[in-house]
Amino acid sequence: MQNYLLSLTFTLIGLVAAINCAAVSAAIPKIDFYKLYDNPEAHISLKDRRTTRDRIAAHGYPAEHHHIVTEDGYIVGVFRIPYSHKLQNQDKIRPVVLVQHGLTSCSDAWILQGPDDSLPFLLADAGFDVWLGNGRGNTYSRNHTSRSPQHPYFWRFSWHEIGYFDIAAMIDYALKTNGQGQKAIHYVGHSQGTTVFFALMSLRPEYNAKIKTAHMFAPIAIMTHMENKLVRTVGPYLGHRNEYSLFFADQEFVPSNDFLLSLFSNLCEPDYKLRPVCENVVQKLYAGNRVNMTAMPDGMATHPAGCSTNQMLHYLQEQQSGHFRQYDYGPKKNQEIYQSAVPPDYPVENISSEVHLWYSDNDDMAAVEDVLALSDRLPNMELHHMEDPLWDHGDFALNQEVRKYLNEPVIEIMKKFDQM
Ligand SMILES: *[C@@H]1O[C@H](CO)[C@@H](O)[C@H](O)[C@H]1NC(C)=O
Ligand SMILES: *[C@@H]1O[C@H](CO)[C@@H](O)[C@H](O)[C@H]1NC(C)=O
Ligand SMILES: *[C@@H]1O[C@H](CO)[C@@H](O)[C@H](O)[C@H]1NC(C)=O
Repeated sequence: MQNYLLSLTFTLIGLVAAINCAAVSAAIPKIDFYKLYDNPEAHISLKDRRTTRDRIAAHGYPAEHHHIVTEDGYIVGVFRIPYSHKLQNQDKIRPVVLVQHGLTSCSDAWILQGPDDSLPFLLADAGFDVWLGNGRGNTYSRNHTSRSPQHPYFWRFSWHEIGYFDIAAMIDYALKTNGQGQKAIHYVGHSQGTTVFFALMSLRPEYNAKIKTAHMFAPIAIMTHMENKLVRTVGPYLGHRNEYSLFFADQEFVPSNDFLLSLFSNLCEPDYKLRPVCENVVQKLYAGNRVNMTAMPDGMATHPAGCSTNQMLHYLQEQQSGHFRQYDYGPKKNQEIYQSAVPPDYPVENISSEVHLWYSDNDDMAAVEDVLALSDRLPNMELHHMEDPLWDHGDFALNQEVRKYLNEPVIEIMKKFDQM
């Protein structure tokens, strides 16, 4: 679903505009969405917003919603499947796993395919204590001990802070709350969920001791060869310190907007008038019949989940510079913060934990060359190349066969580590 990641994000930005344009709407008349909003026939209405906890509980699993305070005062919403109701293993040792979503995504992305295929359910049924993170700024983490999300200062963060503060806090909180004396967790991240791991583990190397195995789906750090057209197009403008990027910086990107979310949640319903729009968008994103369409209404209802524009700017900076390095504030402020005119590289050489890189040939975000260049610098890593030549960024989340090709092998590695 974080395939969704950037590509869907950018598709969604364009969606509302594109809906009125010929390419998408050949068969559809011009649409006044606001008129449809209160029209019962159009089925666009404000439903109660369901959370990840509600969605997990709907499948019969125990589900918890936690609010975790970070060192710098952000409050992130994290969900948990503490055990499996099928195993009734609440009194057994359950190794902790943290799974972390991608850019503009959220914890819901991991559970869209239901209990038979989705990683969190499979992990719970394999005996793990499963935690689903949400980075600051998304729909579940617009919260702070003293600062309102309405205040522009709230949005002054990138994925750097999500790694450095949020993921660190989640690891410590999950270990403490699990209460079984465990010293380390397993980690799974998709896309930005991998970037935040690399940032944290390189800059706070003591956290490597808290990792048993880490699984990077579509790892993103070095971005020199990434082929995503939109990123390559806007990179030269927004990937540098200039009037464009300053204008775009420090803001909430796609605020949680009930109207848009209702629209998206209805878009893919089978009986919905605008279903062709959904099919068109989905077909554009995924060639062939590879995506689980049943999961789409919930996917659209929960995405995009919001982020700071700085997260995008930071990625564009990486794409432009060819470095995996900290946020570029411009020479003057860089000098104050980093004591150098250019931002320092993340010292990924210092990531000592066991890192598994799951990558594929058809990923327009995580190019093979970039993954291999990163792997050369990681001291303790294993490569897992996806055999399917069509496997792309989104397939890591939504492919119909994600259980067989990804989730089961990952769980096997974790079980082996824990001798389960
Ligand atoms: C913000 O955090 C507080 C403290 O943990 C929590 O009680 C509250 O429900 C959170 N609000 C939102 C909107 O998440
Ligand atoms: C597709 O997603 C639906 C809804 O979550 C789920 O029930 C179904 O098992 C999934 N099908 C496949 C083939 O993954
Ligand atoms: C990496 O770790 C080594 C050994 O602890 C340390 O000397 C070095 O400063 C670290 N590198 C960076 C760039 O932080």
